[in-house]
Amino acid sequence: MAVSSTSRDPLGPEVSDEAVRSTCDDASQCKRYAVNMGYWKDPYIQHFARHPKERKAPEISRGYYARVEGVTRLVKAFLQKTDRNCQIINLGAGMDTLFWKLKDEDLLPGKYFEIDFPTIATRKIHTIKSKPSLSQPIMESHSGESFLIDSHSLDSTRYAIIGADLRELHKLEEAMKKCGLDPELPTLLMAECVLVYMAPENSDALLRWVADVFPTAMFINYEQVNMSDRFGQIMIDNLQSRKCSLIGVEACLSLDTQRQRFLQNGWEGAHAMDMVEVYNALPPEDVKRIEALEFLDEKELLEQLMLHYCLSWATKDAQDLGLLEITL
Ligand SMILES: C[S@@+](CC[C@H](N)C(=O)[O-])C[C@H]1O[C@@H](n2cnc3c(N)ncnc32)[C@H](O)[C@@H]1O
Repeated sequence: MAVSSTSRDPLGPEVSDEAVRSTCDDASQCKRYAVNMGYWKDPYIQHFARHPKERKAPEISRGYYARVEGVTRLVKAFLQKTDRNCQIINLGAGMDTLFWKLKDEDLLPGKYFEIDFPTIATRKIHTIKSKPSLSQPIMESHSGESFLIDSHSLDSTRYAIIGADLRELHKLEEAMKKCGLDPELPTLLMAECVLVYMAPENSDALLRWVADVFPTAMFINYEQVNMSDRFGQIMIDNLQSRKCSLIGVEACLSLDTQRQRFLQNGWEGAHAMDMVEVYNALPPEDVKRIEALEFLDEKELLEQLMLHYCLSWATKDAQDLGLLEITL
């Protein structure tokens, strides 16, 4: 079946940008729910998301578990290869809490940047300012006297939040340089459910810009795949009914289109695994633990969901650190 929803912003850019921004709350609420149910530990997510009023299906929480574990394992592999002498840039970070979790495990990179639309950045900064358990770790990892914090940007020694549009690369680069971005450092970029909300020419330009600017880099991407079948079309229609179009869906047709977008935009090596493969690669004792948390009736639905999301990653390795070998 052909994918029919690739038309550009039929509702106009402002309406669709607002709908895209609202996906940030969906992600953080699902993460909070799964954390409350015991799927993984994250003492910080409660500050960024309300506890959802309704019960979430176990398929959703298992899917989030595989996503968070899969991404975290790749991030840790990069930190190990670079001996933490690196920077991380979380693109479309929303209310993600990885900075605090890495700090707790003594795994912080040289600097951790988060980028999102200015309104999302402003909200996150406001929450950080009002919660000592979030602001304290930033202050502890800061080495100067005071750090910059205004309504839509925060810049400390080890952590920065930048309010910017990922489609405006010149402005983004300028803002990151002001916050001490060092293109020569090994750099990990991550995008969890972000690129699919951008038109292909914008996400291609972003991937190409990263490949041009950073000689030693890894890009981790989590988003939809196999979107040209019936189940994929239903996923597109569901989001469309919430005024949110997956305008980047043409890169999400197969694992191969996911890999090719990196290779065509200047990356040396690229991998892609659907979430069934990712789930099967996670430590069996941990999978057993989470499978005992909730009874799952619909194994087929879980499998369908997981077949329609993937983890892809690409590398460029001018410093020969062994980044091409990284796998789950
Ligand atoms: C589904 S949410 C995911 C948030 C986070 N990555 C996570 O997994 O919890 C997508 C995020 O990407 C951000 N985003 C999408 N397009 C963007 C753009 N052009 N510029 C900046 N941020 C963008 C949205 O505002 C939203 O916070």
